[in-house]
Amino acid sequence: MRRAIYPGSFDPVTNGHLDIIERGCKLFDEIIISILVNPEKQPFFTVEERQQMLSEVLPGIDRGGCTLHVDSFSGLLVQYAVAQQADVIVRGIRAISDYEYELQMALMNRRLEPGIETVFMMPAESYSYVSSRLVKEVFQLGGTVEGLVPPLVEKRMKDKLTRK
Ligand code: PNS
Repeated sequence: MRRAIYPGSFDPVTNGHLDIIERGCKLFDEIIISILVNPEKQPFFTVEERQQMLSEVLPGIDRGGCTLHVDSFSGLLVQYAVAQQADVIVRGIRAISDYEYELQMALMNRRLEPGIETVFMMPAESYSYVSSRLVKEVFQLGGTVEGLVPPLVEKRMKDKLTRK
């Protein structure tokens, strides 16, 4: 039984994230998609809103026999992973530029908790430039994010803007 944690900010979840989860389902029996609670960052969506959106879009992905959970965590990722009895941390790598930071994190996490492995996965090339940060920037400046995030997320982004 292989349980993996897929941690991140998911502010908001993108089609790139969903692509990684779908690929992860081919490798793991269970994936816990876990949102970092970071009081230092001013997010676009609250943790609860992000958790809700993830729960709503996950049924749409091809998961095979893999079980998916959505959760949130604060503090050290490896401590959370141990508490969840996970073996693996999954991280998506889009470009070489991601690699340096991800390698640092993976090696630090290994030092802190040698029993947990980090697995880097690559999304489809069509998502190789997609990030939550760019999605938010494009959206806030009036550009379209269609095809980059699930339609439900696009709608929640529009709702949020009209409520501001
Ligand atoms: O989607 P993100 O923002 O790139 O995800 C970053 C995340 C959540 C994986 C990273 O910030 C993290 O693990 N934070 C938890 C605190 C921690 O464990 N820090 C030490 C990492 S070496």
